[in-house]
Amino acid sequence: MDKVKKEQGKRFLVVANWKMNKTIREAEKYIEELKPLIADLKVPIWIAVPYTAIHTCREKFPATIAIGAQNMNDASSGAFTGEVAGVMLKEAGADFVLLGHSERRQYFHETDEFINKKILRALEVPLKPLLCVGEGFEERETKRTKEVLETQLKTCLKGVTKEQMENLLIAYEPIWAIGTGKAATPERVKETHADIRTILEDMFDQTTAFRTPILYGGSVSASTTEELASTEGVDGFLVGTASLDPQSFAKIAALSENVL
Ligand code: PGA
Repeated sequence: MDKVKKEQGKRFLVVANWKMNKTIREAEKYIEELKPLIADLKVPIWIAVPYTAIHTCREKFPATIAIGAQNMNDASSGAFTGEVAGVMLKEAGADFVLLGHSERRQYFHETDEFINKKILRALEVPLKPLLCVGEGFEERETKRTKEVLETQLKTCLKGVTKEQMENLLIAYEPIWAIGTGKAATPERVKETHADIRTILEDMFDQTTAFRTPILYGGSVSASTTEELASTEGVDGFLVGTASLDPQSFAKIAALSENVL
């Protein structure tokens, strides 16, 4: 049991990110397999699914499991062919939305300014934004991680109030660790999460920095769960690849219970 986390009264959170995987039928199969595996777990579980599976997941998962989207548009409605508004996600059954994931930044050219607009809109809906931040390999090698995170956080969270921060979560996802099978070391994660808290303290205050959940994401697997979950400053996980299989995701959730 991680004493620090227990004393702080924080609940460890495990979030799945299915990315562009699973049709409605595949989602139904997954739900049937996952449900019995997590029935006795106390660790909160959130699942970010493709738009098309939100409604089904909301209907078929127990109410204790939060369902989320992986993106949304910053406008509330209008002539934006192919886009999806936050209110639509909410009505379909979403509770939260991933914003600023590095794959959106990389493949869809999303900027911090655009992500900022989405965050403000999500908070208005309301949907809980789970803001993803993280440095690339080059930035890491040139020791610019803190600088990069500071820019991302300051721009993406511009105009967000301390009160609104109570409904927002952050995921630290070093880009070089995503989908590579090479999770960041606990030392690096501890150091970076502390840096993120210092930046938040600077932007808001100590209480806000302390209360904001900061999850780690990037090649989290059953074999790295215990070590990373008990790392100081880690309030949960954002799990991609290993969340696609109900057995491995349930294992990560079960192992995370130790840090509740
Ligand atoms: P990964 O993905 O677990 O496959 O590294 C994490 C993410 O992109 O959220």
